[in-house]
Amino acid sequence: MAAETLPYRNARLPLEQRVRDLLGRMTLEEKIDQLHQCGAGDTNPNNLPLLAEQFRPTYGSFILNGAQPDLALRNALQRKCVEESRLGIPAIFGADVIHGYRTIFPIPLAQACSWNPELVRQACAAAAEEARAQGVDWTFAPMVDIAVDARWGRIAETFGESPCAASIYCEAAVRGYQGLEAGTSPALAACLKHFAGYGNSEGGRDYSYTDISPQRLWEMHLPPFAAGVKAGARTVMSAYNDLNGVPASANRHLLTEILRNRWGFEGLVVSDWNAVRQLINQGFAADEAEAAEKAINAGVDLDMADGLYRKHLGALMQQTRVSPGTIDAAVQRILRVKFDLGLFEHPFCPPASGEDLPPRGDFLKLAEEFAAQSMVLLKNRGDILPVAGSVCRLAMIGPLGDEKAALLGAWSQQGRAHEVVSLLEGVREKLPAGVQLRAAQGCAIDGGGRDGFAEAVALARDSDLVLLCLGESAQMSGENASRSTLRLPGLQQELALAVAATGTPVVLLVVSGRPVELAAVEPGMAAILAVWQPGTRGGAAVADLLLGRRNPSGRLSVTWPRTTGQIPIYHNMRPRARVSPNGEYQDFGTTPLYEFGHGLSYTRFAYSPIRLRRPTVSPDETLQAEVTVTNTGRRDGTETVLWFIRDPAAGITRPLKELTHFESAAIAAGASRVFQFEINPARDLSFPDGDGRRILEPGEILLFAGPESARFNVAL
Ligand code: GLC
Repeated sequence: MAAETLPYRNARLPLEQRVRDLLGRMTLEEKIDQLHQCGAGDTNPNNLPLLAEQFRPTYGSFILNGAQPDLALRNALQRKCVEESRLGIPAIFGADVIHGYRTIFPIPLAQACSWNPELVRQACAAAAEEARAQGVDWTFAPMVDIAVDARWGRIAETFGESPCAASIYCEAAVRGYQGLEAGTSPALAACLKHFAGYGNSEGGRDYSYTDISPQRLWEMHLPPFAAGVKAGARTVMSAYNDLNGVPASANRHLLTEILRNRWGFEGLVVSDWNAVRQLINQGFAADEAEAAEKAINAGVDLDMADGLYRKHLGALMQQTRVSPGTIDAAVQRILRVKFDLGLFEHPFCPPASGEDLPPRGDFLKLAEEFAAQSMVLLKNRGDILPVAGSVCRLAMIGPLGDEKAALLGAWSQQGRAHEVVSLLEGVREKLPAGVQLRAAQGCAIDGGGRDGFAEAVALARDSDLVLLCLGESAQMSGENASRSTLRLPGLQQELALAVAATGTPVVLLVVSGRPVELAAVEPGMAAILAVWQPGTRGGAAVADLLLGRRNPSGRLSVTWPRTTGQIPIYHNMRPRARVSPNGEYQDFGTTPLYEFGHGLSYTRFAYSPIRLRRPTVSPDETLQAEVTVTNTGRRDGTETVLWFIRDPAAGITRPLKELTHFESAAIAAGASRVFQFEINPARDLSFPDGDGRRILEPGEILLFAGPESARFNVAL
């Protein structure tokens, strides 16, 4: 039978029939090679030509994380796979497209402060278009771990501490990466990571043990993954963490019983980088063979980078430690994703122009919009912002003022630091005529000495307003970038105190991948803006907010502790046995510096009392809750209403408050808008037990929106 007429090559046949036909033609060696993802060469393209010699045309996948895209080489590798192998199975090329590819958007922790899932979808769709054009078929995103410990560097990659918000953002990201239309070939395959519980890393240290009760796993860590599976994500990545003594990358309960048997996930599971070999470090495997055996029998289909499947699966099958059925099931899932992506019909990407083109204007505009909506005005004493017309001498002080790379964050793929608009450039570009802007670095981001202090303090003295730009470098958050303290690095806190002591009003701009410790400096700051790591257009967005061309609307997606010692501290904590002040820390108490959901605007919003259609709701009906929000200020603005519930007496204790719904809307000055929450008891009022079974109990529920609260009853 001619190759082009083989059933698996016939795009008109049902996908499952093509998968079965191809699987039936494969040798054991070809099947095992399909389970290997080749990571070599991902650090820079210079290794890829070497890889082209080393590799086999039957490998399943490659990682394209090089410093520069190399579409020509990607297509060259693919041509070998398609033309030099017996069955011509195309490879799938993956990369970490986390918050942009060539155009860099704010880090996910910042994106979540926008409360705008549609923007998340648009940014992911833009990144998919840019990455696809450079040969990427699959992004290792969205990362939907839940973190409540800001010492963990990867909190920057999360959508914050709320399982409800992270689930909604996850669904938006999957739709953005994979495209909206069901049934059409997705732009990229999305990847839900890191499954599961990685964000609970002990002490905020990366790659660590995670002690998570089944109740907590179901309540906090699993919901965003369930939402992503429901949204049709094609792939899942198993996590590094040791989950209660069984590492996630060899945890059959997670990868098969929950993910596949309970949730019906039919896509592929890829291990994290070397996570199979790392089972040895974790004390879960005596050697490589046992690591490979435990990972594939748990449900890891594709082995990223360490090559243990390729080395050991043949022998493991001969020893009947791994069954042929297990191998076939893993291969089927990988082939299914490849057919679904259309890789058999379109294995190659159109050649690029070859020039290193700058990001598209519309994507840059989207990045600037997103950056502006993700920044959070934490403090604004005496409405000192926006910068008043009376300010003639403006000073920008601090190591993050003229900094570019730090604004890109930790996973900036093909983003270029030289294209970033720094805070200084952004403000300078949009400064009104006649306003003088002078800058002094003061100190380094980390390390260095105080020799810049004198110049900075003198400039502050000779200015009407100081914009103090402090925070972290891009490498101080992200993977393998945990810090034992949230304290501002180096001498920055000392610089802040010295500048504040001049008496000139200070606006603090915080560029960081996490909340940072501000307890000592906050009193001396007139205003504080969380800039986060805002991406390519960060400086332009900051300028618009500072100069009043835009009204801030961001709200915190994560609790902002006073001090590192308060960690873990988050909105959905459970109540203590004794009420405050019992149980508080003697020095800093247990209230954070800024609550989850906190964020100021240049206008004011007044809330009406919450209106409930009825005082009681039964399981088979919904209850309409409403609140009217009025913009009582003189500026248009955007308000996000966060709806929280609390179940004050339940068979399993419930958090002090849990975010359950949110909605953002623009409200013109003087106008009002009704925000509604259709409470669905099964979805919004039930809670999981330790096995994920949802429990709905009768009794009173407290409902909160802004400063307002109400109560109603569930009647069974
Ligand atoms: C890394 C990260 C993971 C990433 C993968 C490929 O170690 O944990 O998030 O997608 O390896 O780069």
